[in-house]
Amino acid sequence: MSADRTLSGVGVGPGDPDHVTVKALRILEAADVILVPSTEARAGGIGRAEEIVCTHLPNKAEAISRIPFSMAERRGIGARRSQAWEASATAAVKAFEAGASRVAFATVGDASVFSTFSYLSDLVSQRMEVKVEVIPGITAMQAIAAANRTPLVEGQEILSLVPWTVGAEKLARVCELSDTVVVYKGGREMTELRAVLQAQGRLDDAVLGTDLGLPSERVVPLADVTERAPYFSTVLAAPRRATTGGRI
Ligand SMILES: C[S@@+](CC[C@H](N)C(=O)[O-])C[C@H]1O[C@@H](n2cnc3c(N)ncnc32)[C@H](O)[C@@H]1O
Repeated sequence: MSADRTLSGVGVGPGDPDHVTVKALRILEAADVILVPSTEARAGGIGRAEEIVCTHLPNKAEAISRIPFSMAERRGIGARRSQAWEASATAAVKAFEAGASRVAFATVGDASVFSTFSYLSDLVSQRMEVKVEVIPGITAMQAIAAANRTPLVEGQEILSLVPWTVGAEKLARVCELSDTVVVYKGGREMTELRAVLQAQGRLDDAVLGTDLGLPSERVVPLADVTERAPYFSTVLAAPRRATTGGRI
């Protein structure tokens, strides 16, 4: 019965463990199984979501189950991406079949923003009756705005969040319509991304934030960036305003 099984998508914020909500911690503490993404690129396979969970809940280490996500999946390469969704769904279904009543998927940032959780919950719901809940988290977009002290939007301004994977042409079109533009997933092609913003007259007011919320956090003018950046990189291009301004 669905009432006996709850699948929770828990956003744990972009990196700083202090950015996890009280509700997220309560749901994770109550979970029988906590699924976390892990990639081959990180030592021991420990991903960011797992690090954040373990900082708060070291007693839950045995409840954690790592789901392999390859770097290709992160770049949005189709077959490997759906393999990761499938692996997450299978792990959740197996956990419920083994008697778990609460399974949580911990995800970086917010569970409704470019997260595997939406695919995972659809696949699990197709296979069994389950109650799905989403626990919101702080996004990388909010973290870069706070780190640079730049309001995301004021008054009548329009904000757009763009995955660089849509391509240069779409990003250019979005820039024409939007006051503030935030770009995710552009780390590997940062010089190309930079060129689009420059062509749109947006470069002077754009910043690049890497590892937001972590000790290695770096927020720099995009104009100073001449090489590719890590995967955990976000670009914020806000409009120039009379009364507010970023720290750079
Ligand atoms: C799959 S999306 C996940 C987004 C996340 N669910 C959110 O709510 O922000 C991955 C992208 O989020 C951004 N990102 C996530 N965490 C970040 C961090 N700590 N620092 C900079 N960018 C981050 C990067 O642009 C990265 O390519």
